[in-house]
Amino acid sequence: MEAHLLEWLNLSVRWVHMITGVAWIGASFYFVWLENNLNRVNPKSGLAGDLWAIHGGGIYHLEKYKLAPPTMPDNLHWFKWEAYFTWMSGVALLCVVFYLNPTLYLLAPGSTLSGTEGVLLGIGSLFAGWFIYSFLCDSALGKRPALLGFILFVLLIAAAYGFSKVFSGRGAYLHVGAVIGTIMVGNVFRIIMPAQRALVAAIAENRTPDPALPAKGLLRSRHNNYFTLPVLFIMISNHFPSTYGSQYNWLILAGIAVAAVLVRHYFNTRHNSQKYAWTLPVGALAMISLAYVTGPKPVTEVAKAPAAIEYQPLPETALGGGLKPAAPAEPAAAPAAAPAQASIDFDKVHGVIQERCAVCHSAKPTSPLFSTAPAGVMFDTPAQIQQQAARIQAQAVASQIMPLGNITQMTQQERDLIGTWINQGARTN
Ligand code: HEC
Repeated sequence: MEAHLLEWLNLSVRWVHMITGVAWIGASFYFVWLENNLNRVNPKSGLAGDLWAIHGGGIYHLEKYKLAPPTMPDNLHWFKWEAYFTWMSGVALLCVVFYLNPTLYLLAPGSTLSGTEGVLLGIGSLFAGWFIYSFLCDSALGKRPALLGFILFVLLIAAAYGFSKVFSGRGAYLHVGAVIGTIMVGNVFRIIMPAQRALVAAIAENRTPDPALPAKGLLRSRHNNYFTLPVLFIMISNHFPSTYGSQYNWLILAGIAVAAVLVRHYFNTRHNSQKYAWTLPVGALAMISLAYVTGPKPVTEVAKAPAAIEYQPLPETALGGGLKPAAPAEPAAAPAAAPAQASIDFDKVHGVIQERCAVCHSAKPTSPLFSTAPAGVMFDTPAQIQQQAARIQAQAVASQIMPLGNITQMTQQERDLIGTWINQGARTN
């Protein structure tokens, strides 16, 4: 029952997070586009430019003022709640997904941190990220935006590296995303909104607005602009085990972020010139290269058929009430005397999967954590196991994402056994 309620809580919070995130990023893309495409030739007096557009069956005429209209309108629309709600629902989602069950989802299998320490580290990093970022922007580096951008990039990748040492692959990725998301919303809340309020107040009181504030706001909103694409990738990265599940997940994230920033740069500059059109093919090439380097290892390397598999029955406590983080996976068994391609007996594979996976992945999970099969994946029958062979390979052989938190203490030999069975064609007889 509890697991079922949690699933619906997850669903609702995730949905809200997605809706508000779409609203926030959508508005932000739209205004960047608007700014870049304003017609600035011979604007009417007081205007910076204007733009005509057609959408949804209506024709719109938008005008941007150099500073402000002669009289302020009664109803000026502000864009902030989509940002605030994206962040709040994001933090709620972090709690529902990671912090409610840190040993299963957040911590790396075998991590020396306790669940509480992991949660505190996660939350602490959001605030630390914001303060370090904000300090750097306000320092002398703020005057050297390219250098600042480079330093921020290096720091974020360093954070990804650090997270990858203590958190699960997903936990690490999501926390990099949460740190960046917190910086973005912090920029809106602490810098951009106050600057806009000061501007509106100055106009209302007929004062000249302090130019320092908008300049600060501009740097921050430029950062937000370049953050969007990497963050969007991180938010969907859960679907791609070859990224977060890799030992080099932090490097892969760096590669994807570079491609994303390059592509964003093209879209930020294309109205002026095609000077950066090269970023598109380079971005595509980067993705192809990443696909290549993250690809499955050649068969000869994987297929070290272990001669005999020693089962290590689970201690009774492992799946009872008190779930403990499992010991780190053992190093791969030396392939020394293994007959190169002994045909794997399906019964052995079946036994491993029943013991290590089916406690959760079953129509009736025996694990107290799940009331239905997680992700709809069930391993009750040989046919189901065979049908899911490619996904099993991705989750438990090529990466060690499953079993979650290695809660059922799967050994490296067992992973090798399943890998060899899949390489031999995943036969069930
Ligand atoms: C403690 C419970 C648990 C155990 C044990 C477990 N899993 Fe999972 N598995 C999950 C959960 C939860 C998800 C779903 C959603 C997610 O990815 O967070 C999942 C998702 C999956 C998916 C679908 C992922 C995708 O999106 O393609 C596969 C495949 C999978 N597990 C395979 C395995 C295999 C193989 C084993 C055993 C080696 C295993 N799992 C053991 C909990 C478990």
